[in-house]
This record gives sequence, C-alpha cells and structure tokens, in this order.
Amino acid sequence: MKGTNVAIVGATGMVGQEFIKVLEQRSFPMTSVRLYASDRSHGRKMKVRGEEIEVKETTPDSFKGIDIALFSAGADISKQFSPIAARTGAVVIDNSAAFRMDPEVPLVVPEVNPEDIKKHKGIIANPNCSTIQMVVVLFPLHKVNPIKRITVATYQSVSGTGLAAVDELIGQSKLVLDGKKADPKVYPYQIAFNVLPEIDVFLENGYTKEEWKMVEETHKIMHAPGIAVSATCVRVPVVIGHSEAVQVEFSRPMSPAEAKSILSKAPGVTVMDDPSKRVYPYPVMVAGQDDVYVGRIRKDASHPNGLVLWIVGDNIRKGAALNAVQIAEKLVQK
Ligand SMILES: NC(=O)c1ccc[n+]([C@@H]2O[C@H](COP(=O)([O-])OP(=O)(O)OC[C@H]3O[C@@H](n4cnc5c(N)ncnc54)[C@H](OP(=O)(O)O)[C@@H]3O)[C@@H](O)[C@H]2O)c1
Repeated sequence: MKGTNVAIVGATGMVGQEFIKVLEQRSFPMTSVRLYASDRSHGRKMKVRGEEIEVKETTPDSFKGIDIALFSAGADISKQFSPIAARTGAVVIDNSAAFRMDPEVPLVVPEVNPEDIKKHKGIIANPNCSTIQMVVVLFPLHKVNPIKRITVATYQSVSGTGLAAVDELIGQSKLVLDGKKADPKVYPYQIAFNVLPEIDVFLENGYTKEEWKMVEETHKIMHAPGIAVSATCVRVPVVIGHSEAVQVEFSRPMSPAEAKSILSKAPGVTVMDDPSKRVYPYPVMVAGQDDVYVGRIRKDASHPNGLVLWIVGDNIRKGAALNAVQIAEKLVQK
C-alpha cells in the first residue's frame, strides 16, 4: 500500500479522539487524514499532527481515495457505511460489533492472530475491549499448555460506553457528594458509587451480549472453539481501564512461576506481580499505557490445573484505538 490516506469515522467520539492520538504517537505513515462524524459535528475543527482539520458528516461519498477507514461510530453506522467504503477500495477496520462474528470478516488481535489479516475482503473487525485484553494474556499460555476452561468476571470502566457515560459518572459523583439525587440517563441505574452487572442487552440464556461476545470472540481470535468460557461483565465507576479476575483451567498443571516466565516474554504484556510489596496493576495506573498488565498470578485453590490472574488494560487504547492502528500498521507493512 503506497501513500496511505486515512479516514476516521466517529472522529469526535471517545475512541475516535484516541485514534488521532495513537496515529500521531506512533507516527503512522499517513499521506492524508479525513475526519467524519454525524451531521451534529459537521464543520467542527480538530487538530491532527498540528493541522486543523474540519470534521464532515459521514456520507456514501466520504471514502473516495481512502486506503484505510477506521470506524468507531457504532454498529448501525458501520453496517451502513463499511460495505460502501470497502467497495470504494478502502480497507475498513471496524471497532463496532457489526461484523465481528461474520465468518467472512477476520477478527484480529495482532499479538494473537496477525495471520488472519490477510484473509480480509475489505473489512477487518476489532474485537470487544474486554476480549482483547484477556486473549493478549491468555494466548501465550494456551500455546504452551492448552486452555480447557476460562471463568472471568470483568470490572469495566464507563469510558467503554463513550463520552456521554464519562460525563454521567463525573456529573453523578458531584451530585451524590452534594447530597443530591443522581439522574441516570446512559445507564439504567446510578453508576456513581455503584456497580452494575449489566453491559449490553440481556440474552435468552441469561447472559448479557457483552458476556457472550467474550465467549464467541475468544473462540474466533484464538482459533480454539473448544475452550469453555463463562463471563460476568460488570460496569464499575472507573473512568478508564477495564480489570478482569480470570480463572483458567489448563490441560495440565502450570505453576505461577512458569506463567510469569512465559508472560514476561509475551508481546504487549507487562507482568506486575509482587504481593509482598503490594505490586499489582490497577486501572488508574494502566490508563494511557499500551500494554496489557497482569498480576496476582496464583494457583487456583479449586483446581489442580488452574491459575487465577488479574488482568488490567486501557480499554480505549489496547481495547480499541491502539489495536486497530496495530492492524493498520500490519496492512501498510505488507
Ligand atoms: N469506548 C470503548 O472502550 C470502545 C471499545 C471498543 C469499541 N468501541 C466501539 O466504538 C464505537 C464508538 O464508541 P465511543 O466510545 O467512541 O462512542 P462515543 O464517544 O459516544 O462516540 C460516538 C461517535 O460516533 C459518531 N456518530 C454518532 N452517530 C453518527 C452518525 N449518524 N454518523 C456518523 N457518526 C456518528 C459520533 O459523532 P458526533 O460527535 O457527531 O455525534 C462520535 O464521533 C462503538 O461502536 C463502540 O462499541 C468502543
């Protein structure tokens, strides 16, 4: 791909703004960049590489001359415009859930299944944030000692729901501290000083769609449909950074020392694990970092082949924008 012209759809959003930051920080080789959002943002100016660029409304004509289109404007916009962008000649990297489980669309975490990128037919899907950080840590262990079962509980920050949710947490926190009543709009109940076991819609099987994404996407990315996965996804009053308590059952026993040794060499992973000095990762520390952090690695007292891990990642960076830009970098390298 020579001279890369990039479009960002959803440029004004939480992930869109991070796309701009990550592209700049990694000096992504862009010949040009165009910014798109809804008609509400038409005419707004945003800085990219020091240059003021006008945001335009997304239309079917937005993709002429574009090589890579980074989408993060929700599944409906992706369904409407990604096929048009792909037909126009762009490769779409889509952050929404629109195409993730489409067998024709690769679902990629570059540290895990970069080889799937070349199977694309114009659209590549970026996985769900909670799945990305989990598989970055579990895949290197799985390669050495195949995983049979994963049980995970997530503690997901409000930035995963977008800018409006961050405003809601901050606004509600001030109201509650002032002794006033919180007024939920983005979430069904108060999120300030609270914890909500509901992310995305409920399915007939009792899980939420977010929980089911972790099951299906893990199978697809790791090419391991046989792993039993059960997730409980929980929204917590944290601004940036998803945390996960993960119990893993391997084919045979694995010591915490072996897991640490494997993970300390794994791409995109930082081991931060010294209980004697209270060293472990947490969201406030991980926000803004590229790596996924892992600590509290210990034998699972409930299973001889089990380990328990605490995994923390920046959901806006590795969970969204960074992962997509890493995919774009692989496309450009070809
Ligand atoms: N936040 C995360 O951690 C995360 C992680 C992975 C994936 N994602 C996915 O990324 C997408 C965006 O998430 P976000 O957190 O960035 O949300 P957000 O902060 O609410 O931003 C939404 C973006 O979509 C744009 N948009 C809305 N309606 C549009 C329309 N009709 N046409 C074109 N653009 C439109 C908005 O533009 P205006 O400003 O003009 O309204 C804004 O740029 C979602 O699909 C989400 O599932 C998010």
